[in-house]
Amino acid sequence: NMPILEQCYNLMDFEAVAKQVMKKTAWAYYSSGADDEITMRENHSAFHKIWFRPRILVDVENIDTSTTMLGTKVSMPYYVTATALGKLGHPEGEVILTRGAHKHNIIQMIPTLASCSFDEIMDAAQAPQVQWLQLYVNKDRAVTQRIVQHAEARGCKGLFITVDAPQLGRREKDMRSKFDDVGSNVQSSSGDSVDRSQGAARAISSFIDPSLSWKDIPWFLSITKMPIVLKGVQCVEDVLRAVDLGVHGVVLSNHGGRQLDTAPSGIEILAEVMPVLRSRGLEHKIEVYIDGGVRRATDIIKALCLGAKGVGIGRPFLYAMSAYGLAGVDRAMSLLRDEMEMGMRLVGAARIEDLNPSLVDARGLANH
Ligand code: FNR
Repeated sequence: NMPILEQCYNLMDFEAVAKQVMKKTAWAYYSSGADDEITMRENHSAFHKIWFRPRILVDVENIDTSTTMLGTKVSMPYYVTATALGKLGHPEGEVILTRGAHKHNIIQMIPTLASCSFDEIMDAAQAPQVQWLQLYVNKDRAVTQRIVQHAEARGCKGLFITVDAPQLGRREKDMRSKFDDVGSNVQSSSGDSVDRSQGAARAISSFIDPSLSWKDIPWFLSITKMPIVLKGVQCVEDVLRAVDLGVHGVVLSNHGGRQLDTAPSGIEILAEVMPVLRSRGLEHKIEVYIDGGVRRATDIIKALCLGAKGVGIGRPFLYAMSAYGLAGVDRAMSLLRDEMEMGMRLVGAARIEDLNPSLVDARGLANH
């Protein structure tokens, strides 16, 4: 009695179907958050603390949802963020997301720990489609340098260095579920042997360098011309430090609630960060993205009103892919587009540039 695709009316609906149809181990890996999953839940509910202040009698006949991210023109202000192990959910893995992203003119961020190889995912793209690389930094910097320079040579347009995972969080749902079909799928960039007793996440992440620090950032800027974005920044002090070092962007994120539990949500951090950037005249020096818990176009609109350049969306596309393959991803993206047009129309903003802080009441956020 699985619902047919046309009965999925929003991004949450895919999650319910995925839970029914996915293998237990795969569901556990995708859906889990760290510890008590307080941050994971808060990621979505934080958006409910913001209310709109819609403007009336604005000409909203023609809505334009397109914008640019790191210089690339896209149809909507979101991207498909990096999520590891796509083949747990669908036998074809990440290339399904590549095809969906192409159809909707959306950027895909390719994970270091993809199930498909990096080149397979690049090959699945169709020009002029744009992809970014998410990087877990290897203890062996020569390996990292090879990965980065190969990505640039293959035409990747952005390097997202994950900075919130010096150690993988405890995802107990994942640890409890016996995992035996994961490690062999992961590309060899991880290198090390796999400890299967710790759940999928820990088993594949032992190569990540916990000594990575601010001192390393100039080196990354020296080995590539790709724009560099720090993914997983969680307070304004670190955003200012990123600006000082000349990186091109930050993603305010807690890794989908999978790392430090009771870390703040991206939208809360955004409310802390943007007023400081604006007061120092730095808001155009760096592109600020957020991710975590984005499930409705109204969530996207709120983030943009508060100053985000765009948002990342993770689990919903994994669930849509796991439940229905490419058709699911396609429908999820179509639903978001329809929601976005309606949301902008009802809030009274015809173009992305029209979204600004006066369209929201964010006093419910702790950081406001
Ligand atoms: C992730 N995320 C992630 N981030 C990263 O930098 N490297 C990675 O390999 C992964 N892997 C991964 C796997 C799965 C199953 C999930 C759910 C998430 C984090 C991801 O990029 C993003 O920060 C969150 O997924 C955003 O939250 P939502 O949209 O899933 O709520």
